Amino acid sequence: MVKINFINHKGETQTVNAEVGPTVMENAIRNAVPGILAECGGACACATCHVYVDEAWKGKTGDPSPMEEDMLDFAFDVRPTSRLSCQIKVSEELDGLTVTVPERQA
Ligand code: FES
Repeated sequence: MVKINFINHKGETQTVNAEVGPTVMENAIRNAVPGILAECGGACACATCHVYVDEAWKGKTGDPSPMEEDMLDFAFDVRPTSRLSCQIKVSEELDGLTVTVPERQA
């Protein structure tokens, strides 16, 4: 288990105990994090699991794949730190990861 911090658009933080192996999105759904809809179930086909990765964690989460970048075009208010949380696998390295959930999904 590692900790992941989800900050909502009001600045409130929800810290969850995340399982290593599944994605950030799957851990968000299991912990009922508001604002992560994940309508496609993690197939990189809906952009409703959009989050902003905290700047300090960008190096560890890596860059989006070309397919993810194409899908991000459909997300609301895309920024340089935007990622689809279904494309970030949780690893021990991501203990303490902080992401912000946008005000709304696409
Ligand atoms: Fe649909 Fe991530 S859950 S793109």
